[in-house]
Amino acid sequence: MKLSIVSLIACSTVVFAAPYGNGVKNVIMMVSDGFGPASETIARAYMQQNEKLPANYMSVIDKLFVGTSRTRSADSFITDSAPGAQCFSSGVKTYNNAIGVDVNIKPIGTNMEAAHRKGMKTGLVAKSHITDATPAAFAGHAANRAMQDLIAEQMGGLVPALGQNVDLMFGGGRCVFQSNSTKESCRKDTKDIWGTLKNNSWNTISTKEEFETLDSKSQLPIIGLFSKSDMPYAIDYDINNVPSLPQMAKKAIDILSEATKDSDQGFYMMIEGSRIDHAGHANDLGTHLREIFEYWETIKLVSEYIDAHPDTVMVSTSDHECGGLTLGRDNKYFVNTLTYKNQTASFETSCSKLLELKVSQRGQYVTETMIPVHLGTNVTEARASAIIKATNFSECVAGMRDALAVDANIFWTSLGHTGVDVNVYAKGKYTDELRGNLENTDIGNWLTKVLQVDVDAVTKSIQDLNVFQYNFTRSKSTLEYDHYK
Ligand SMILES: *[C@@H]1O[C@H](CO)[C@@H](O)[C@H](O)[C@H]1NC(C)=O
Ligand SMILES: *[C@@H]1O[C@H](CO)[C@@H](O)[C@H](O)[C@H]1NC(C)=O
Ligand SMILES: *[C@@H]1O[C@H](CO)[C@@H](O)[C@H](O)[C@H]1NC(C)=O
Ligand SMILES: *[C@@H]1O[C@H](CO)[C@@H](O)[C@H](O)[C@H]1NC(C)=O
Ligand SMILES: *[C@@H]1O[C@H](CO)[C@@H](O)[C@H](O)[C@H]1NC(C)=O
Ligand SMILES: *[C@@H]1O[C@H](CO)[C@@H](O)[C@H](O)[C@H]1NC(C)=O
Repeated sequence: MKLSIVSLIACSTVVFAAPYGNGVKNVIMMVSDGFGPASETIARAYMQQNEKLPANYMSVIDKLFVGTSRTRSADSFITDSAPGAQCFSSGVKTYNNAIGVDVNIKPIGTNMEAAHRKGMKTGLVAKSHITDATPAAFAGHAANRAMQDLIAEQMGGLVPALGQNVDLMFGGGRCVFQSNSTKESCRKDTKDIWGTLKNNSWNTISTKEEFETLDSKSQLPIIGLFSKSDMPYAIDYDINNVPSLPQMAKKAIDILSEATKDSDQGFYMMIEGSRIDHAGHANDLGTHLREIFEYWETIKLVSEYIDAHPDTVMVSTSDHECGGLTLGRDNKYFVNTLTYKNQTASFETSCSKLLELKVSQRGQYVTETMIPVHLGTNVTEARASAIIKATNFSECVAGMRDALAVDANIFWTSLGHTGVDVNVYAKGKYTDELRGNLENTDIGNWLTKVLQVDVDAVTKSIQDLNVFQYNFTRSKSTLEYDHYK
C-alpha cells in the first residue's frame, strides 16, 4: 500500500514538473465556417447513399462529436465570422464585424498571441484569404473586418506595438500584401507587404510547385498564399493548380511539429474549412458537400496525428450555420443526395463564365455545358431559361440552385447565416469538459486553459494599439446584448 502511494506521489510530481504542466503540448483549433447540423446530416447521407453504407455508418467527424455550441454575437442573434472566431481566440463576445476588439472597440489579446509570447510556434491555415475574418481574429485587431490593409500588416508582424505572433500562414489572399502599383493588388496604398516580409526573412511562396518543395525541416516563418483572393473550391481543383486544405494542414503540422520537437513548448494552430460557408451563401450544395468532405479528410489526418501524439488536443466547431439548409420540402418525404453526384463545377465558376459571354452565346453554353456538364443533370426548358435570362451573378446562382433542389427535395432558406446551434467535435485530453451545450465563448476559454496562457497580459500590453485604419462608425449598439446578459 505504502509503496503505491509513494509511487503515485512521485508520478504526479513528474507530471507537474513536466514542461507542459497539464500534459498538453500542442493545440489545434479547427473551424468549419458556416457548417451547420443539417450539412453534416446530408454529407453523411450522401456517403451512405453513394457507397451503400449501413444506416448506423458514422462519419470520421460523427465519431468525435461531443456537444453543441450556441453562436450569437454581442450585438446580434446571428453572428458573422469575425465575432464568431473571436469567441474562440479570446473567449470574449463582441459586435458583428469586429476583429480582436471588445464591444468598446478596445483591443483585446488572443490566445494565439499569448501562446506565441510563451514560446509556442503558431500557424494559420485557411481556404479564404488569410486576412479574412476567421484567421484574422487570431492575430489581428481592427474595428472592422473590412480593414484588410491594416490586418495584413498586423498578421505579418509589421506593427511594432503588436510584434510578430504567427510563424506560418497557408491560404489565399496575396492581393492585400501587394502594393497598389501592381496589377494583382487590392490594397489602397503603395506598401509592399510581401516584399517586406521577404526582406524580414519570411519564406514567401505562392505556387503549388513551391509548396511541394517545402518539407518538415523548412525554416519558419513561412507564408504561402496560393491565390489572389480566396482559394478555389475543392470541386474546382482540377482547373486550378493549388494545394488542398488537407495538404496544407498536413504540411503545416509537419513543419510546426518538427520546429518544436526539441522544445518544451509545442505549437498552436487554427485550421479553417473557410469555403463550406461560401458554398452555403451561394446555396450550392454540390460544392458545399465537397468542401465538407475535404474538411472531414483534414479532421482525419489531425485525428491520426493525435493518435501518434497524445500530447496534442483538437477541437472543431463552426462559428455559425450558413444558408438555412433544410432537408425535405413541399411535404414530400424523401431526400435524394445523389442529385449532386455528377456536379463538376461550382456555381461560382460556372456563373462567372456565363456572365463573361455575350448574351447571344449564353444559350448554347447553358444547354451544352452548364446544365449537362457542370450540374450533371438533364436539360429541361424551365431549367435552361431561368439560367439563360440571368442578368447578374445572384440570378444565375439561383437558377442553378433551383435546377437541382427540387429533384433532391432540399431547400435553402437564406443567402446568409442563421442562428441555429452548431456541433462541436473534439479529441484528446480534457475534451470531456466540452460535452453538452456550450456558449461559443466556452470554447475559447477552454483553449486558453489547455494552452496555459495569459490572454489578459496580452490585452494589457496592447491597450493603446491603433485599431482604426479609417473613420469607422459602428452600425449597431450593444443594447441588445446587455439585455440578454
Ligand atoms: C496608391 O496608394 C497611394 C497612397 O499610398 C495613393 O495616393 C494612390 O492614388 C494609389 N494609387 C492607385 C492606383 O490606387
Ligand atoms: C527589400 O530589400 C531590398 C534590398 O535591400 C530593397 O531594395 C527593397 O526596397 C526592399 N523591399 C521592401 C519592400 O522593403
Ligand atoms: C450521374 O451520371 C451517371 C453516369 O452517367 C448516371 O447513371 C446517373 O443517372 C447520373 N445521376 C444524375 C443524378 O443525373
Ligand atoms: C434524365 O432523363 C432520363 C431520360 O429521359 C431519365 O430517365 C432520368 O430520370 C432523368 N434524370 C433526371 C435527374 O431528371
Ligand atoms: C440582380 O438582378 C435583379 C433583376 O434585375 C435585381 O432585382 C437584383 O437586385 C440584382 N442583384 C444584384 C446582387 O445585383
Ligand atoms: C475622420 O472624421 C473626422 C470627423 O468627421 C474628420 O475630422 C477626420 O479628418 C477624419 N479622418 C480621416 C482619416 O478621414
